[in-house]
Amino acid sequence: MSLQDSRGRPLRDLRISITDRCNFRCTYCMPRENFGAEHEFLAKEEILSYEEMTKVVASLLPLGLSKVRITGGEPLLRRDLHVFIGLLRNLDPALDIALTTNGALLHRHAESLFQSGLSRVTVSLDAVEKDLFRSITDSKNTPEEIFKGIETAQRIGLPVKVNCVVKNGVNESQIVPLTQACIEHKIPVRFIEFMDVGTTNNWNLDSVVSGKEMRQILRNHFGPLEPLSAEHPSDVARLWRLVDGSTVGFIESVTKPFCGDCSRARLSAHGSMYTCLFSEQGFDLKGILRFGADRKEIAQVIQDIWTHREDRYSEQRAQLKEKRQPVEMSFIGG
Ligand code: GTP
Ligand code: 5AD
Ligand code: SF4
Ligand code: SF4
Repeated sequence: MSLQDSRGRPLRDLRISITDRCNFRCTYCMPRENFGAEHEFLAKEEILSYEEMTKVVASLLPLGLSKVRITGGEPLLRRDLHVFIGLLRNLDPALDIALTTNGALLHRHAESLFQSGLSRVTVSLDAVEKDLFRSITDSKNTPEEIFKGIETAQRIGLPVKVNCVVKNGVNESQIVPLTQACIEHKIPVRFIEFMDVGTTNNWNLDSVVSGKEMRQILRNHFGPLEPLSAEHPSDVARLWRLVDGSTVGFIESVTKPFCGDCSRARLSAHGSMYTCLFSEQGFDLKGILRFGADRKEIAQVIQDIWTHREDRYSEQRAQLKEKRQPVEMSFIGG
């Protein structure tokens, strides 16, 4: 049975944040002033268990779910992630199971995740220059360590993509060298326009480098770029080809919103479902899960939520007058 929201959009993609913790403190996502030693992260009992999350996925498969993305915070901080991957893989051999990670711990975990059935990995990497990387992530890690994780994943056969958020005056200088490094490693790279998610990143339109501006930077260095047509309407990235045949993607949710085909639902670590990245409130599922609801009952609740869905925040951004309080990205998952 195919489920559709009020604008005719199916629910194909579930993004699950499995922890609100992270080993980085990226200045645009978890600035240390707001996420310091005194910050209260979720307690263990508040977080959904792997079994509970698996039950949600199982309830959505008959409704048309085909992709699960595991995010955070940093998902590799949660213990025994490979066990969760195994539970999901047992549900459906064809399910696309992807992981979004900052890559710092990928070297250590890639093999067991792959063996358990993980389909692919997307690594967030905003700079290849060491000092800039350290200042953006507010960590002592290095880009070399991230590439070591990427190379380990590639060696064992896990497909890898790289995502880079570009912020004006911060890391435009990295667009060319990161593209170069990704061409050398044969990794598809996608550049993301900086978005106004959460409440702590001081977003304003001046801090956005548009996809168009990013492409001009690439053109100046690599020569002409040719646009490619989208593989699937709900893909967030638009791909362009460089002269040497490699492709670069752009996620332009600020200047070219893609809400029209948005088939993504989000499940937070504490068990709420959000129907938009910019939602201010979620729908509690933990209550019914812990009350012993079975797959059919969970599916019924999600059906009700989804059929009423009207979200299209990125398309409305410019017209909305009142200041919103969207949930933090590290909480809901990217
Ligand atoms: P692939 O299947 O590998 O293409 O992944 P994906 O399409 O799920 O994209 P990914 O998870 O790599 O998302 C990349 C980035 O796009 C996220 O970190 C967000 O910044 C942004 N993004 C993803 N989904 C949405 C969405 O629904 N709305 C908005 N506004 N941005 C999104
Ligand atoms: N705008 C765009 N992307 C963001 N991410 C985190 N905050 C933002 C933002 N404000 C990205 C991370 C990572 C993914 C999970 O979300 O860099 O690639
Ligand atoms: Fe952590 Fe990713 Fe947020 Fe950086 S962007 S603080 S790596 S969750
Ligand atoms: Fe989907 Fe909301 Fe993003 Fe639009 S802004 S693409 S509705 S998550």
